[in-house]
Amino acid sequence: MIRFENVGFSYDGKRQILKDISFEIDDNASVGLIGANGAGKSTLIRSVLGFLDFSGKITVDGTEVTKKTLPEIRKKIGYVMQNSDNQMFMPRVVDDMAFGPKNYGMDKEETERRIDAILERLSISHLKEAYNHKLSGGEKKMASIATILTMEPSILIMDEPTSMLDPYNRRKIQDVIVSLPQTKLIASHDLDFICDTCEKSILLYDGEIRGYDLTERIMRDRDLLEGCHLELPYRYQ
Ligand SMILES: Nc1ncnc2c1ncn2[C@@H]1O[C@H](COP(=O)(O)OP(=O)(O)O)[C@@H](O)[C@H]1O
Ligand SMILES: [Mg+2]
Repeated sequence: MIRFENVGFSYDGKRQILKDISFEIDDNASVGLIGANGAGKSTLIRSVLGFLDFSGKITVDGTEVTKKTLPEIRKKIGYVMQNSDNQMFMPRVVDDMAFGPKNYGMDKEETERRIDAILERLSISHLKEAYNHKLSGGEKKMASIATILTMEPSILIMDEPTSMLDPYNRRKIQDVIVSLPQTKLIASHDLDFICDTCEKSILLYDGEIRGYDLTERIMRDRDLLEGCHLELPYRYQ
Protein backbone atom coordinates (compact mmCIF):
# COMPACT_ATOMS: atom_id res chain seq x y z
CA MET A 1 0.00 0.00 0.00
CA ILE A 2 2.79 2.46 0.95
CA ARG A 3 6.30 1.54 -0.14
CA PHE A 4 9.56 3.48 0.32
CA GLU A 5 12.65 2.38 -1.60
CA ASN A 6 15.95 4.04 -0.70
CA VAL A 7 14.35 7.42 -0.08
CA GLY A 8 16.63 10.33 0.73
CA PHE A 9 15.93 14.00 1.28
CA SER A 10 17.72 17.19 2.21
CA TYR A 11 16.19 20.67 2.64
CA ASP A 12 19.41 22.54 1.96
CA GLY A 13 21.28 20.12 -0.31
CA LYS A 14 23.81 19.50 2.49
CA ARG A 15 22.35 17.85 5.57
CA GLN A 16 20.44 14.65 4.83
CA ILE A 17 17.17 14.63 6.78
CA LEU A 18 15.94 11.28 5.37
CA LYS A 19 18.71 8.74 4.86
CA ASP A 20 18.13 5.73 2.63
CA ILE A 21 14.67 4.96 3.98
CA SER A 22 13.05 1.69 2.85
CA PHE A 23 9.91 0.07 4.28
CA GLU A 24 6.49 -1.22 3.34
CA ILE A 25 3.10 -0.75 4.94
CA ASP A 26 0.42 -3.33 4.15
CA ASP A 27 -3.20 -2.66 3.27
CA ASN A 28 -5.26 -1.81 6.35
CA ALA A 29 -2.27 -1.87 8.68
CA SER A 30 -1.90 0.78 11.35
CA VAL A 31 1.68 1.91 11.74
CA GLY A 32 3.12 4.36 14.22
CA LEU A 33 5.99 6.60 13.18
CA ILE A 34 7.94 7.41 16.33
CA GLY A 35 11.09 9.33 17.05
CA ALA A 36 12.40 12.25 19.09
CA ASN A 37 11.90 15.84 17.98
CA GLY A 38 13.77 16.48 14.75
CA ALA A 39 14.08 12.77 13.84
CA GLY A 40 12.39 13.41 10.49
CA LYS A 41 8.80 12.22 11.08
CA SER A 42 7.06 15.22 9.53
CA THR A 43 9.54 15.28 6.66
CA LEU A 44 8.84 11.62 5.91
CA ILE A 45 5.11 12.35 5.87
CA ARG A 46 5.54 15.36 3.60
CA SER A 47 7.49 13.21 1.16
CA VAL A 48 4.63 10.68 0.81
CA LEU A 49 2.30 13.56 0.01
CA GLY A 50 4.64 14.71 -2.73
CA PHE A 51 5.48 18.07 -1.15
CA LEU A 52 9.22 17.37 -1.31
CA ASP A 53 11.70 16.64 -4.04
CA PHE A 54 13.11 13.39 -2.62
CA SER A 55 15.47 10.84 -4.16
CA GLY A 56 14.54 7.16 -4.40
CA LYS A 57 11.06 5.84 -4.95
CA ILE A 58 7.76 6.04 -3.08
CA THR A 59 4.71 4.12 -4.24
CA VAL A 60 1.20 4.44 -2.88
CA ASP A 61 -1.25 1.74 -3.81
CA GLY A 62 0.95 0.78 -6.77
CA THR A 63 1.25 4.36 -8.08
CA GLU A 64 4.66 6.01 -7.94
CA VAL A 65 4.67 9.45 -6.29
CA THR A 66 5.72 11.94 -8.98
CA LYS A 67 4.61 15.43 -9.96
CA LYS A 68 2.30 13.89 -12.55
CA THR A 69 0.56 11.46 -10.20
CA LEU A 70 0.09 13.92 -7.32
CA PRO A 71 -3.64 14.54 -7.86
CA GLU A 72 -4.25 10.79 -7.84
CA ILE A 73 -2.03 10.27 -4.77
CA ARG A 74 -3.69 13.07 -2.82
CA LYS A 75 -7.10 11.57 -3.54
CA LYS A 76 -6.07 8.30 -1.93
CA ILE A 77 -4.58 9.89 1.17
CA GLY A 78 -6.35 11.77 3.92
CA TYR A 79 -3.73 13.96 5.59
CA VAL A 80 -4.57 15.18 9.08
CA MET A 81 -2.20 18.06 9.76
CA GLN A 82 -0.53 18.70 13.08
CA ASN A 83 -2.10 22.14 13.34
CA SER A 84 -5.85 21.93 12.69
CA ASP A 85 -5.96 25.69 12.09
CA ASN A 86 -4.12 25.07 8.84
CA GLN A 87 -6.62 22.41 7.87
CA MET A 88 -9.87 24.19 8.68
CA PHE A 89 -10.08 27.38 6.66
CA MET A 90 -13.82 27.82 6.04
CA PRO A 91 -16.15 29.57 8.54
CA ARG A 92 -18.04 26.52 9.81
CA VAL A 93 -17.34 22.79 10.18
CA VAL A 94 -20.00 21.90 7.59
CA ASP A 95 -18.41 24.32 5.08
CA ASP A 96 -15.03 22.63 5.42
CA MET A 97 -16.58 19.20 5.13
CA ALA A 98 -18.47 20.18 1.96
CA PHE A 99 -15.46 21.84 0.32
CA GLY A 100 -13.73 18.72 -1.03
CA PRO A 101 -16.84 16.92 -2.30
CA LYS A 102 -18.06 20.14 -3.95
CA ASN A 103 -14.70 20.52 -5.71
CA TYR A 104 -15.02 17.02 -7.06
CA GLY A 105 -18.49 17.75 -8.39
CA MET A 106 -20.48 15.63 -5.99
CA ASP A 107 -24.15 16.60 -5.89
CA LYS A 108 -25.59 18.44 -2.91
CA GLU A 109 -27.72 15.67 -1.52
CA GLU A 110 -24.98 13.06 -1.62
CA THR A 111 -22.59 15.54 0.02
CA GLU A 112 -25.09 16.28 2.77
CA ARG A 113 -25.76 12.59 3.34
CA ARG A 114 -22.04 11.85 3.61
CA ILE A 115 -21.42 14.74 6.00
CA ASP A 116 -24.24 13.68 8.34
CA ALA A 117 -23.08 10.06 8.36
CA ILE A 118 -19.49 10.99 9.22
CA LEU A 119 -20.47 13.46 11.94
CA GLU A 120 -22.67 10.83 13.51
CA ARG A 121 -19.94 8.21 13.29
CA LEU A 122 -17.53 10.51 15.15
CA SER A 123 -20.29 11.55 17.62
CA ILE A 124 -19.94 15.24 16.73
CA SER A 125 -23.26 15.92 14.97
CA HIS A 126 -23.72 18.87 17.33
CA LEU A 127 -20.68 20.57 15.78
CA LYS A 128 -22.07 20.62 12.23
CA GLU A 129 -23.02 24.30 12.17
CA ALA A 130 -20.35 25.38 14.66
CA TYR A 131 -17.83 28.08 13.75
CA ASN A 132 -14.31 26.74 13.49
CA HIS A 133 -12.77 29.65 15.40
CA LYS A 134 -14.97 28.85 18.40
CA LEU A 135 -14.00 25.17 18.67
CA SER A 136 -11.75 23.81 21.41
CA GLY A 137 -8.52 22.02 20.42
CA GLY A 138 -10.12 18.59 20.78
CA GLU A 139 -13.23 19.58 18.83
CA LYS A 140 -11.11 21.07 16.08
CA LYS A 141 -9.02 17.92 15.76
CA MET A 142 -12.17 15.82 15.57
CA ALA A 143 -13.67 18.19 12.97
CA SER A 144 -10.51 18.06 10.87
CA ILE A 145 -10.63 14.24 10.87
CA ALA A 146 -14.30 14.47 9.83
CA THR A 147 -13.34 16.80 6.99
CA ILE A 148 -10.69 14.38 5.75
CA LEU A 149 -13.14 11.48 5.83
CA THR A 150 -15.60 13.20 3.46
CA MET A 151 -13.24 12.37 0.58
CA GLU A 152 -13.28 8.68 1.57
CA PRO A 153 -9.50 8.20 1.51
CA SER A 154 -8.13 4.66 1.64
CA ILE A 155 -5.12 5.84 3.66
CA LEU A 156 -4.96 8.14 6.67
CA ILE A 157 -1.76 9.95 7.53
CA MET A 158 -1.71 11.93 10.75
CA ASP A 159 1.04 14.16 12.11
CA GLU A 160 1.05 14.39 15.93
CA PRO A 161 -2.72 13.97 16.31
CA THR A 162 -2.58 14.35 20.11
CA SER A 163 -0.37 17.39 20.41
CA MET A 164 -2.19 20.06 22.43
CA LEU A 165 -4.97 17.70 23.57
CA ASP A 166 -5.99 17.09 27.18
CA PRO A 167 -6.36 13.46 28.38
CA TYR A 168 -10.13 13.36 27.77
CA ASN A 169 -9.86 14.53 24.16
CA ARG A 170 -6.80 12.42 23.55
CA ARG A 171 -8.86 9.40 24.59
CA LYS A 172 -11.72 10.39 22.25
CA ILE A 173 -9.38 10.81 19.28
CA GLN A 174 -7.79 7.47 20.17
CA ASP A 175 -11.17 5.67 20.09
CA VAL A 176 -12.04 7.24 16.74
CA ILE A 177 -8.68 6.34 15.18
CA VAL A 178 -8.95 2.74 16.35
CA SER A 179 -12.45 2.49 14.88
CA LEU A 180 -11.40 3.70 11.42
CA PRO A 181 -10.72 0.86 8.95
CA GLN A 182 -8.25 2.69 6.68
CA THR A 183 -4.54 2.04 6.35
CA LYS A 184 -2.96 4.38 8.90
CA LEU A 185 0.42 6.01 9.37
CA ILE A 186 0.54 8.06 12.56
CA ALA A 187 3.54 10.19 13.50
CA SER A 188 3.83 10.92 17.19
CA HIS A 189 6.29 11.22 20.02
CA ASP A 190 3.42 10.20 22.36
CA LEU A 191 4.49 6.56 22.69
CA ASP A 192 1.56 5.56 24.88
CA PHE A 193 -0.82 6.83 22.22
CA ILE A 194 0.95 4.79 19.54
CA CYS A 195 0.78 1.70 21.80
CA ASP A 196 -3.00 2.10 21.90
CA THR A 197 -3.55 2.78 18.19
CA CYS A 198 -0.86 1.06 16.12
CA GLU A 199 -0.06 -2.60 15.69
CA LYS A 200 3.38 -1.90 14.27
CA SER A 201 5.82 0.98 14.60
CA ILE A 202 8.67 2.50 12.67
CA LEU A 203 11.37 4.05 14.86
CA LEU A 204 13.22 6.96 13.27
CA TYR A 205 16.40 8.48 14.60
CA ASP A 206 18.32 11.22 12.86
CA GLY A 207 16.71 10.40 9.50
CA GLU A 208 17.34 6.66 9.72
CA ILE A 209 15.08 3.73 10.46
CA ARG A 210 16.33 2.11 13.68
CA GLY A 211 13.44 -0.33 14.06
CA TYR A 212 10.29 -1.55 12.33
CA ASP A 213 8.44 -4.19 14.27
CA LEU A 214 5.36 -4.95 16.35
CA THR A 215 4.73 -1.87 18.46
CA GLU A 216 4.93 -3.82 21.69
CA ARG A 217 8.31 -5.26 20.78
CA ILE A 218 9.76 -1.83 20.01
CA MET A 219 8.20 -0.17 23.04
CA ARG A 220 9.56 -2.74 25.49
CA ASP A 221 13.12 -2.38 24.19
CA ARG A 222 14.65 0.11 26.61
CA ASP A 223 18.12 0.07 25.01
CA LEU A 224 16.73 0.65 21.53
CA LEU A 225 14.51 3.53 22.67
CA GLU A 226 17.13 5.18 24.87
CA GLY A 227 19.64 4.93 22.02
CA CYS A 228 17.17 7.03 20.02
CA HIS A 229 16.58 9.56 22.84
CA LEU A 230 13.17 8.19 23.77
CA GLU A 231 11.88 6.85 27.08
CA LEU A 232 9.90 3.67 27.68
CA PRO A 233 6.15 4.31 27.55
CA TYR A 234 4.60 4.58 31.05
CA ARG A 235 3.00 1.14 30.84
CA TYR A 236 6.38 -0.59 30.40
CA GLN A 237 8.39 1.44 32.93
N1 LIG B 1 11.33 23.53 6.11
C1 LIG B 1 12.50 23.14 6.63
N2 LIG B 1 13.67 23.68 6.22
C2 LIG B 1 14.86 23.28 6.72
N3 LIG B 1 14.99 22.32 7.67
C3 LIG B 1 13.86 21.75 8.13
C4 LIG B 1 12.57 22.12 7.64
N4 LIG B 1 11.63 21.36 8.28
C5 LIG B 1 12.31 20.57 9.12
N5 LIG B 1 13.65 20.79 9.04
C6 LIG B 1 14.71 20.07 9.80
O1 LIG B 1 14.61 18.69 9.48
C7 LIG B 1 14.82 17.90 10.63
C8 LIG B 1 13.65 16.97 10.79
O2 LIG B 1 12.50 17.73 11.09
P1 LIG B 1 11.04 17.11 11.17
O3 LIG B 1 10.80 16.25 9.99
O4 LIG B 1 10.09 18.24 11.40
O5 LIG B 1 11.17 16.20 12.47
P2 LIG B 1 10.07 15.64 13.47
O6 LIG B 1 8.74 15.78 12.81
O7 LIG B 1 10.48 14.22 13.70
O8 LIG B 1 10.18 16.44 14.73
C9 LIG B 1 15.03 18.86 11.79
O9 LIG B 1 16.40 18.97 12.03
C10 LIG B 1 14.45 20.15 11.29
O10 LIG B 1 15.13 21.23 11.85
MG1 LIG C 1 6.98 16.72 13.37
